[in-house]
Amino acid sequence: TDTPIGQKPMMGFNNWARFTCAAQARLDGTRAGYSFQHFMEDQAKAMKATGLVAAGYKNLTVDDCWMQRTSAGYLHGAAHWGGSSQPGFDWELTGYADRLHALGMEAGLYSTSGEKTCQGVPGGVKGHEDNDARSLAYWGIDSLKLDNCGTTWSDRQQIFTTMAKALKTASTGKDRKILFNESAPAAASGAESVKYKTMDWVRGLGQMWRVSPDITVWPKAAWNDPSAGSAYQGGVYQNFTDTVALARYNGVGNHNDADMLLIGDNKQLTLPEQRSQFALWSVMGSPLMISTDVRKMAAHPKDYQEQLAILKNKDIIAVDQDPLGAGGYLASRDNASATAGIDVVVKPLAGGSRAVTVLNKNSSSVQYKLDLARLGFGNLSCTRIARNLWTHQGSRVTDSISTTIGGHDNAMFTVAPGSCGGAADAVGQIQAAQ
Ligand code: GLA
Repeated sequence: TDTPIGQKPMMGFNNWARFTCAAQARLDGTRAGYSFQHFMEDQAKAMKATGLVAAGYKNLTVDDCWMQRTSAGYLHGAAHWGGSSQPGFDWELTGYADRLHALGMEAGLYSTSGEKTCQGVPGGVKGHEDNDARSLAYWGIDSLKLDNCGTTWSDRQQIFTTMAKALKTASTGKDRKILFNESAPAAASGAESVKYKTMDWVRGLGQMWRVSPDITVWPKAAWNDPSAGSAYQGGVYQNFTDTVALARYNGVGNHNDADMLLIGDNKQLTLPEQRSQFALWSVMGSPLMISTDVRKMAAHPKDYQEQLAILKNKDIIAVDQDPLGAGGYLASRDNASATAGIDVVVKPLAGGSRAVTVLNKNSSSVQYKLDLARLGFGNLSCTRIARNLWTHQGSRVTDSISTTIGGHDNAMFTVAPGSCGGAADAVGQIQAAQ
């Protein structure tokens, strides 16, 4: 039972950014008898039908509001959906996890380190860590997202530590271990020394952690408009900026989470912006958790061809899932603004190649010459093979790559060391570039 879990960034679905706790209807508009659990299972079936499960999106996490706590202290499915009169989750979640597993998926649940969740549901783990871990193990749950609401900097570390131990103990002897997804560092936005201290302890306890604010919740525009949301709502650009700064904390089984992908039916991002979110999250090695109505994409695949193509781009997924587990670092930021200039993010890959995402922050198209020195390569007179991860075409390059990038769009490449040599070329240069 020592098989490690969470070695690569998680890929899957989380309902929060697109749906929060608001009760939903079936696609035909009817609501009667439509439970929160039906809704999640419908998203799971749609993930399978669209080929997203086959593409690697296996984890289905239900966020806040799925639970209730009995007076005896046990965790069970909520009777109702987010305070509505619509049904919530089954009392026991055993059947739920079984059905997700039958689809080739994994079941994730949400809770918080305090007593009440961020939506005020009295289902947090505080004081119930061991019982809750045993309930999760009994139900066959694969991952727990643990939020910060209800605790402070003085008791949070202790509860996360207790919960990590409880999850390990409860999964002993089972074939399924429970992955620990910690939100703790996210609450430290704006307090950098607290954030770095938090990073020191979360890494020993779990496999992934949120480091930035909540990605803008539907239906607000999400490119980079913090004013459109609350202080806790970032946007693609802010979440990228916060996460890329912590690249060195990434590794095998250690993943900075930039929060959910808004690629699908959301309309919070234009298509170029959806491409850029995907290219940035991948080059950072962030978990790739979709938050959209996959049911619609399954019912109308022609209308969502472009979005599905983004999510299923094998070359870009491979960069995210690269076995070296490195985080992408900011190699250059030509203009420290969300609305102008070019950002270049580089991720070292196993075998000495580098992935690079070039983000055009301008609203109009630019011609850009990417200097390969920015990728940390040494000998710039060598010929290397560059692969364009959006067109899937290879080309020979020496000192630079010239490319045209649309407004808010990106160019993404991998560049192999080729005959210039891997080790000698790569070692040391990466640090130099950081
Ligand atoms: C916090 C988290 C979000 C989501 C909500 C649920 O804001 O950061 O991802 O889980 O709580 O209430």
